[in-house]
Amino acid sequence: MDGSDTVVSGPVTYNRIEVTPIAGTMGAEITGANLADLDDETYGELYNAWLRYQVVVFRDQDITPDEQLAFALRFGKIHHHPYMKGMDDHPDILEIIKEAGDNYTFGAAWHTDQMFNPQPAKATMLYAKETPSAGGDTMFSNMHDAYNGLSDAMKEMLSDVKTWCVGDRFKLSGKSARQDRYGGNKAMASKVKDPGNLQTESAHPLFRTHPETGRIALYIGNHAQTFEGFNDAEAEPLMQFLRDHSIRPEFTCRVNWKPGTLTLWDNRCVQHYAVPDYNERRRMHRITIAGDTPF
Ligand code: OGA
Ligand code: MN
Repeated sequence: MDGSDTVVSGPVTYNRIEVTPIAGTMGAEITGANLADLDDETYGELYNAWLRYQVVVFRDQDITPDEQLAFALRFGKIHHHPYMKGMDDHPDILEIIKEAGDNYTFGAAWHTDQMFNPQPAKATMLYAKETPSAGGDTMFSNMHDAYNGLSDAMKEMLSDVKTWCVGDRFKLSGKSARQDRYGGNKAMASKVKDPGNLQTESAHPLFRTHPETGRIALYIGNHAQTFEGFNDAEAEPLMQFLRDHSIRPEFTCRVNWKPGTLTLWDNRCVQHYAVPDYNERRRMHRITIAGDTPF
């Protein structure tokens, strides 16, 4: 059973917002919410829609960094990144910038945020400031559908498996442009009140239970290196199968950005991929929300 509960399976009526799905598997655009000024009822509806649709997209938002931070703090504490430094005047916000001519694209591998941490990010909120004239979309994949798409035999065989996840490989793939731009976390750790857990290696259940909906997700992404207790030769073909399976097109949705688009995704049940198909400036403001220990 996948533990579906009323949050995701029952009919939901929204009074304040309108919700338009963007793909069969998950993802929705939400209208009727001004993120700079949200009353509790509207926030409650959009939180419900976020749990239900896993990826929610708000268009034409005009918010300051302080307003984005205030919105983010309604979801929980801020999760600080161990490698990346926040904006000078807003250390809780990472500015993700790609310039024309950069050959590194942050996030251009299927992953879920900070999976290398013992308490990976619950949610990520990305707000577009400057976008390319075409391209630069973000793709998302539904890890509940990926889990449900496995055979019972495969689910049973892998039911107690833990993945070993590290941040270092990811970090090293950043190359010099990234290191110059973000400069590591040391400066950040001294700036923010609560740097949180900066650990970069962890074991996590391959099948995790969503702490709010009770649904089971396949929990895999590019930080997962191997299965605990397996030989690499045993783990790798299984992991490669799961990586490929988890991003089948029918499990995905895709978000195209314009300045003012804000997308919020649930890292506990979604992988994402920054599509590196453009060569123009793109600038985003990113906030991640702290999560729990996966179980
Ligand atoms: C991220 C990320 C994707 C993008 O912010 O965690 O992976 O499209 N971004 O910028
Ligand atoms: Mn990411």
